[in-house]
Amino acid sequence: MDNYPLNVGLRGVKVADTKVSFIDGEKGILIYRGYRIEELAERSSFMETAYLLLNGELPDPMQLEDFDKQVRAVRELPEYLYACLKSLPNNADPMDVLQAAVPLLAMHDPDLKRETRAANVRMAIKLIARLPVVTAAWERIRNGMEPLPADGNLPHAANFLWQLTGKKPSEEMAHDLDVCLILHADHTFNASTFACREVCSTRAHMYASVAAGVGALSGGLHGGANTRVMGMLLELESEKDIAQWVRNRIDQGERIMGMGHAVYKTMDPRARYLKEMASRLGKSTGQEKWDRLSKSLEEAAVAEFDRRGKTEIRPNVDFYSAPVYHMMGIPRDLFTPIFAISRIAGWCSHVIEEKFAEAQEKPALYRPQAEYVGNYCGLIGCVYEPIEARA
Ligand SMILES: CC(C)(COP(=O)(O)OP(=O)(O)OC[C@H]1O[C@@H](n2cnc3c(N)ncnc32)[C@H](O)[C@@H]1OP(=O)(O)O)[C@@H](O)C(=O)NCCC(=O)NCCS
Repeated sequence: MDNYPLNVGLRGVKVADTKVSFIDGEKGILIYRGYRIEELAERSSFMETAYLLLNGELPDPMQLEDFDKQVRAVRELPEYLYACLKSLPNNADPMDVLQAAVPLLAMHDPDLKRETRAANVRMAIKLIARLPVVTAAWERIRNGMEPLPADGNLPHAANFLWQLTGKKPSEEMAHDLDVCLILHADHTFNASTFACREVCSTRAHMYASVAAGVGALSGGLHGGANTRVMGMLLELESEKDIAQWVRNRIDQGERIMGMGHAVYKTMDPRARYLKEMASRLGKSTGQEKWDRLSKSLEEAAVAEFDRRGKTEIRPNVDFYSAPVYHMMGIPRDLFTPIFAISRIAGWCSHVIEEKFAEAQEKPALYRPQAEYVGNYCGLIGCVYEPIEARA
């Protein structure tokens, strides 16, 4: 134990085995259940990828059809959840709303206390179906509109865009969002997945575990980075000298959001894919400005990091997802909920793996140790002075 590094965020410490996904941080490779994400982004769909993550193998056509039907069948939210959403202050952060909605959904689920794999997969299906519906409903409610019912004829990403905007999206737009969902669906033991697994290791249920994941994802160093990337791009709209802006920001101890990664020491493979999508969307939507600005920022930041000897800090998934979502017309504070709408597939797969010890001998409670560095008077303990004597 003494050889373990302390207080460095568990970097390099292996805490469990997993069969769900794999990263080669040096080479910039991400694999879900054996499949490269580039291959899945090109050829799969989010529904198929979610099935793969949950079940460990690709579905046959009947299995995929059945899975897709199951997801579509449970999109509707319980009535009380709409009432709860309507009672919230309009300025509530959508990630807080999403996190609050997860245990509210638990209260309605007859599978909650069923400790079988099948029941947990059913809960996963309900969460995959409903997180987008909650996000879309909140967007409408906070803008004084009624939530829209799901459209049973629309596939997952297209239905989300419809429930969000009230407009049927183009096939290209729905496909691009679907690809984004594939790319964000899992990422080994990232902070939010670890949070889910840690909570479920106590034998807490699926929803309690996922609520922890949503909370962890909201932070600026994790999923919350994408909204902050957009903040930087908006700030840079009128900036003449991006290189100087980057230098000042780093000198002031601030971070360039969407850059750097705890595991990747080269460009994140998801960012590579999203960079191309941003270029394409810039052209097709007539918003090339955002694509140009992102690339200029990347160039300036990479040059500055290189100059400072930090050659491994490169764009991560959040860097190019921000201009992509912006060009899709999605409000900035919904970028992180969209990350959650995708990552829910990975979270649930990891919860199931943890709960049913699918990659280890038996389930075990996470309980790390800490080095005590606080006040210490020996094992006998410090002398307790009555309050009157402490004046
Ligand atoms: C993700 C992240 C926390 C990973 O960090 P890490 O490599 O594990 O380790 P640290 O946070 O300790 O960073 C190491 C050094 O690089 C610097 N650094 C890392 N990312 C940086 C960034 N995006 N901008 C400026 N400096 C950065 C740190 O300031 C630190 O410098 P120091 O050694 O002089 O103190 C970090 O890169 C970051 O904060 N990125 C921005 C937020 C982000 O995009 N998060 C989404 C991740 S998918």
